[in-house]
Amino acid sequence: MRTKILKRLSFVAGTVALLAGAGVHAEGDGVAGRVKFETCAGCHARPGYANAYPRYHVPKLAGQHTNYIIASIKSYADNERKHGAMDGNADSLTPQDVEDIAVYLAQFELVANDATITGDAEAGKEKAATCAACHGETGDNSDPNFPRLAGQYESYLVKALQDYKSGARSNPMMNGLASGLSEEDILDISAYYASQEKGLGTVER
Ligand code: HEC
Ligand code: HEC
Repeated sequence: MRTKILKRLSFVAGTVALLAGAGVHAEGDGVAGRVKFETCAGCHARPGYANAYPRYHVPKLAGQHTNYIIASIKSYADNERKHGAMDGNADSLTPQDVEDIAVYLAQFELVANDATITGDAEAGKEKAATCAACHGETGDNSDPNFPRLAGQYESYLVKALQDYKSGARSNPMMNGLASGLSEEDILDISAYYASQEKGLGTVER
């Protein structure tokens, strides 16, 4: 147990150095972030946990990019995204808390994935060709400003794309792109990213 924690801590320190080298947000402290994530764990560290209504899986965060996590939490605080619990959580975090949590979450390695999918992933692969420039061919992009999609829950990806399409979630780039997708496209593309062998994971405390 102790070795595991020590290993994890040294990994976090390494990640911070790496981020500093890449010129990305380097202010965060992953060790502090782990502690601060305590209030989030009830929803984000439970494999398969779903939002009750409407029903979709609570997004996986382990292995998500730092800058995107910071931007996404800000978008709840700024009302570009709305979700009862997340709005409250975002408001209660200081900028330092958000950076610490982002560094903590980004340190997780991508994991093997056992997704249940309902869409047609083969068809989704073709339809996702236009998304590759930013999200990477398999949804495992390296630019920290664009969210990783590989391994994310299908139901969450569907919800996100529907929200961009309806305008419930506001991002000029994604609103434009999603408006051209049919419900079937949304399901197939979500199935494609969700079914990647390796991808985002549920946070393990
Ligand atoms: C009551 C359950 C719950 C709690 C507690 C909670 N979240 Fe969330 N979180 C959600 C749900 C559900 C969503 C997706 C909401 C939506 O559709 O926009 C979400 C979305 C997010 C996202 C955006 C993910 C993405 O891919 O865009 C981030 C980042 C996040 N939460 C971080 C946190 C942090 C940090 C905390 C603790 C301070 C926290 N959450 C606490 C349920 C929760
Ligand atoms: C020009 C770059 C770009 C392209 C092309 C692009 N995206 Fe995005 N995508 C983004 C950015 C930036 C965000 C984060 C926006 C935000 O903060 O809401 C995003 C967010 C998303 C999300 C939400 C992820 C989450 O965790 O909540 C999904 C799903 C998504 N994109 C799917 C797609 C699909 C499907 C396509 C192709 C049809 C596509 N994107 C094309 C830049 C892009």
